[in-house]
Amino acid sequence: MTPRDRLIVALDAPSADAARALVARLGDSVTFYKIGMELIYGGGGLALAEALIGEGKRIFIDLKLHDIPHTVERATAQIATLGATFLTVHAYPQTMRAALVGAAGSNLKLLGVTVLTSADDADLAEAGYAFGARALVARRAAQAEAIGLAGVVASAAEAATLRAEGRRLTLVCPGIRPAGGDAGDQKRVATPARAIAEGADYLVIGRPITGAAEPRAAAEAIVAEMAAAA
Ligand code: C5P
Repeated sequence: MTPRDRLIVALDAPSADAARALVARLGDSVTFYKIGMELIYGGGGLALAEALIGEGKRIFIDLKLHDIPHTVERATAQIATLGATFLTVHAYPQTMRAALVGAAGSNLKLLGVTVLTSADDADLAEAGYAFGARALVARRAAQAEAIGLAGVVASAAEAATLRAEGRRLTLVCPGIRPAGGDAGDQKRVATPARAIAEGADYLVIGRPITGAAEPRAAAEAIVAEMAAAA
């Protein structure tokens, strides 16, 4: 995989038209897009996903499914018809098993969301968890691998730990911020270079690219930083 193929741009936009305009500006600097709740619930997100797949882009559907197994299985089976590369489900064993059944027979790869990169240990304690982020990510990644998921979503801060534990899962890391960049609501952040050095397979990057005055230049700078770190 080239560094460019490891960059996934989060198409978090208010409308399919706005997302389309961004894709046009990014041109061939980006090969892989993540389409999530804002665009899908706003309408047009899934149609845009299909169109971009038809144009040769890879697509990550980030709906972070979590419901009773029957509902997760059926929802996953619907998404599996799109031709997307990745779909996220929360890394609860019941949910992961149901999603695997729903994706059976398709090329859709499932990613388990371990702990959101916006959450730190205090947020987990407030939500009633007995584990801190590092321990909970490790536990959920081990469960995802045992159940048979293709990969997990975790912060770059946990990537090295997961690699050291011998996890062969695909590691997808959001919470990426170029040095000096605004973290926004993200708490477990890392630079693109550090994420690659820690063992991430893919970096998910939204606002540092989509909110830049020159998105294409921002994407190219990040690809160059990833290449230098590889
Ligand atoms: O703008 P920013 O770079 O923070 O975007 C990160 C993207 O990754 C968002 O679309 C967010 O929903 C997603 N994401 C995340 N943390 C996870 C899973 C997905 O930030 N654990």
